Amino acid sequence: MSVTVRVPAKVNVQLGVGGLRADGFHDLTNVFFAVALGDEVTAGPGTEGVTLSCEGPGADQVPLDGHNLAAKAARLLAAHHGLPEPTVHLHIAKAIPVAGGMAGGSADGAAALLACDALWGLGTPRPALLELAAELGSDVPFALFGGVALGRGRGELLEALPVTGTFHWVFAVADGGLSTPAVFRECDRLREAAGLGSSDVDFPTPELSAALVDALAVGDPKALATALTNDLQPPAVSLRPSLQATLDTGLAAGALAALVSGSGPTCAFLAPDAATAERLAEALRTSGTCRDAHATYGPVPGATVL
Ligand code: C5P
Repeated sequence: MSVTVRVPAKVNVQLGVGGLRADGFHDLTNVFFAVALGDEVTAGPGTEGVTLSCEGPGADQVPLDGHNLAAKAARLLAAHHGLPEPTVHLHIAKAIPVAGGMAGGSADGAAALLACDALWGLGTPRPALLELAAELGSDVPFALFGGVALGRGRGELLEALPVTGTFHWVFAVADGGLSTPAVFRECDRLREAAGLGSSDVDFPTPELSAALVDALAVGDPKALATALTNDLQPPAVSLRPSLQATLDTGLAAGALAALVSGSGPTCAFLAPDAATAERLAEALRTSGTCRDAHATYGPVPGATVL
């Protein structure tokens, strides 16, 4: 018997980064938005311990050892229930860009939690699953949660936000990834260089954007376009200046807005409708400013057993 879980990628429609905390994390005002671009994780019988396999674009860059969040999730869930080291095989079918700022690794961790929970018949209550997810990483709880949600703290304290209708997005995938800790460090460095200070004493956590909340609630893509912000965009572009050409290309091809997705290097473009999203993706694919581009939509639900 095996269990397959489908899990969405995310784009941050507001990523407000506060100062650096004493624990090495930054307080965030983080609005997550789940999109239909997703991975599938299948948990099935294994031979010895937790084993992994992976297929899809960038699969060769996915660690297949104990560092993979899916493997950590399986072990954490077993330990939480006082079970011995589990024997399970996890197969990851990847569509989410690897190390792309769309929480692909976090999504696989969330999917593995849910898949193992179902495979082992544990019935772990939702609040406990969300706590285990937060132990795995800041973005893992949202991959279970789905939809659109405000994340505070490290991003793990979630509250659903109301949304009307469907928004159309295009994601332009770059060659190679960007390291999330490196992008946060560059954010601190740029703030220091600008004389703003980078600690949580100097730098307050940004407020949730009321314009953004309204645009989502009424389902207005033009209003959402003007409200999108990502404090990690300047550091991501600073580390990877070529991203500016990708962003400019999407805007010139008719995107309502362009921004770096999370810590990058994937770039996100908001489109007025599905047909424009398809045209934009084609324009980006042929522009030579990215490796590939995908038209998709959201919001969609969080990790779901198929
Ligand atoms: O929680 P996660 O393992 O995804 O975080 C990866 C790294 O990103 C952290 O070690 C930290 O350097 C950085 N980070 C941060 N502030 C956050 C989330 C992540 O500085 N709120």
